[in-house]
Amino acid sequence: MALNSFLIALALVVLVQGASFGQDERVRYDNYSVYKVKFETSEQRSLLKKLVEDRENFRLWQEAQDELHLMITPSALGELETVIRKTNSSAKLFISNVQELIDLEEEANIKASRDGSFGWTKYNSLAEIYAWLDEILVAYPAITESFILGQSYEGRTIRGIKISYKSNNPGVFIESNIHAREWITSATATWLINEFLTSTDELVRDLAQNHDWYIVPVLNVDGFAYSHEKDRMWRKTRQPSDISSCVGVDPNRNYDSHWMENGGASSDPCAEDYGGPNPFSEPEVQALADFVSSNKDKINVLLAFHSYSQLLLSPYGHTEEEFPPNFDDMMEVAKAFGDAVESLPYGTVYRYGSSSGILYPASGATIDWAYNEQGVEISYTIEFRDTGRYGFILPPVHIIPNAEEALVGIVALLDKCEELG
Ligand code: ARG
Ligand code: ZN
Repeated sequence: MALNSFLIALALVVLVQGASFGQDERVRYDNYSVYKVKFETSEQRSLLKKLVEDRENFRLWQEAQDELHLMITPSALGELETVIRKTNSSAKLFISNVQELIDLEEEANIKASRDGSFGWTKYNSLAEIYAWLDEILVAYPAITESFILGQSYEGRTIRGIKISYKSNNPGVFIESNIHAREWITSATATWLINEFLTSTDELVRDLAQNHDWYIVPVLNVDGFAYSHEKDRMWRKTRQPSDISSCVGVDPNRNYDSHWMENGGASSDPCAEDYGGPNPFSEPEVQALADFVSSNKDKINVLLAFHSYSQLLLSPYGHTEEEFPPNFDDMMEVAKAFGDAVESLPYGTVYRYGSSSGILYPASGATIDWAYNEQGVEISYTIEFRDTGRYGFILPPVHIIPNAEEALVGIVALLDKCEELG
């Protein structure tokens, strides 16, 4: 009897420990689904966004000009029907169980990790990325240089690598993973670093050697770590709010350029596009701004990596009414990127235009700040694969094809820039 109760107690302890130390600490998305919600007018869009922000069971995944992508809890189907009716929009399912995709991705990551810690057949953690960067810096001491952007809110170091084969090159700054869950961006950025150092392809060598590269593979380090360890769907930074229990700011709405103008960001701390209590409230954003502004004479091009939607976006973000003076050139450059990507056997199609024109007003984004405030005249947001089959949980088999597309696209983009002067 005594032994029996001892065994029961032991079993209970094991159970409880299993529950508190296991997978359960992670946010789970069992039977969460993702819908594309289509609408026609900007009034419908505003109403939809408002209804979404008011509902805990809804989370915004992506916005496009004529549709929102919404993740909803399994119990919120009725609510979705109500919202669809109220806004006179229509919905189409594209992911039926988000957790299933997360589990598949994790299995692939675990499997790939068995053959070594870093690679492009899986998504790497921040620690793996930094350890790999160190190896690269040791292997290529003459052409690479480590730089530190600054520290995150939680005290992580935001690192970058400069690649320079010779002096007097035009400079290209690459910002990546400002949004935590957009893992394809740092996978692509690290693959590009590797190509710039190791490729034997003539075009790639030319590209690598005739530019100075400043590449920050993970800007939002806290959010990125959080998306690996706790919540795969995390987007924002991790700084708590003074006025709400919701955590984090959308760093791509936090730059001091037309901040919060024109409905280009939310003032609700719980929203995915919360602009923050003030511009540059996020140390990660301030750190990037400090680096770019103190090196602006050396930076001719700024590329901000995002996912997903397959778009090349140029300024302005804050207004649809005006266009930048070199808009026509920017469109020609964007077309060159798109054509190059399409020429690959994958047949991937990119659309292009101004941020506000083909998406929605978004103010306080990196490229708009660089363009408006720092005079970086070639400033693009690249939204990588896909268009919403997997969304943010893009299976790792896409990493190399996506990165190849980015590479040929960037070659064409920079060639066209040179041609246009
Ligand atoms: N999906 C990105 C975001 O929501 C794209 C923003 C592009 N807009 C801009 N103004 N640069 O942050
Ligand atoms: Zn993004």
